[in-house]
Amino acid sequence: MAIIIAVANQKGGVGKTTTTANLGASLAVKGHRVLLVDMDPQGNLTSAFGLDKGVRQTVADALLDRRVPLPIVSVENGSEGRLDLVPAATELAVAEAQLMNKLGRELRLRDQLSGVEGQYAFVLIDTPPSLGTLTINSLVAAHYVVVPTEARFFSLQGLQMLEDTIQETLFLNPRLKVLGILLSKLDRRLKEERLVSDHLRERWGDAVFETEIGTNSKILEAGSSGVSVFRYAGGDKAADLYLSLADEVLRRVQ
Ligand SMILES: Nc1ncnc2c1ncn2[C@@H]1O[C@H](COP(=O)(O)OP(=O)(O)OP(=O)(O)O)[C@@H](O)[C@H]1O
Ligand SMILES: [Mg+2]
Repeated sequence: MAIIIAVANQKGGVGKTTTTANLGASLAVKGHRVLLVDMDPQGNLTSAFGLDKGVRQTVADALLDRRVPLPIVSVENGSEGRLDLVPAATELAVAEAQLMNKLGRELRLRDQLSGVEGQYAFVLIDTPPSLGTLTINSLVAAHYVVVPTEARFFSLQGLQMLEDTIQETLFLNPRLKVLGILLSKLDRRLKEERLVSDHLRERWGDAVFETEIGTNSKILEAGSSGVSVFRYAGGDKAADLYLSLADEVLRRVQ
């Protein structure tokens, strides 16, 4: 059975999608079979692999109708590992509203994944910047949560809110654990970011991953170009950081 990891933080723009894409690619480079699931109507993870145009079926179809299988597309497959993606598009926002009238709406992704997880070592779920039904579906389906955060004062309050939501989700998914908090776009040149990252490590201790992803233009450019840092010229330094994050993830899930 796969290890299922939701990447969540209700704060926008903190690096959820970038982390999902590049951590997923790192695990695939290390030889694991990885499925990425885009649970955000913005479809940024889908675009991060150059797939925005021309996807016919999306995760929304499978969430609304249990008989529709999860649509899976293959992306960036190397010689050893495998990297597949369940795409999303804007209609996922409509689907989220329609789910409100459906029975077992929080369990839909979990049930759909149970049919395919046997084919993968890891499933990584990218969530939207909210604590609505799509994020709850992701937390209910997951064994672990990875929480990317900026090192900004306002991010700290958000972490507490997420912690409260995770506590509530335990009611539907008692196995859920926080795998780690990730400083996902840290700029050490800024005093505020140095102070907040120190504070974060004091407050959350070992929960914070040792690996810090610094702000790096290649990470931004790779995302806009529709590839992971492994496939982007000059992305080697960033790729090394995500490989070290993958090592920590592999240690923590054992
Ligand atoms: N380490 C980094 N260095 C430079 N740019 C980064 C880094 N991490 C993320 N970014 C950029 O920051 C922006 C926001 O990142 P991303 O889309 O991953 O955040 P998000 O949390 O998924 O956002 P949303 O809440 O909208 O889904 C993107 O343009 C991304 O390319
Ligand atoms: Mg995102």
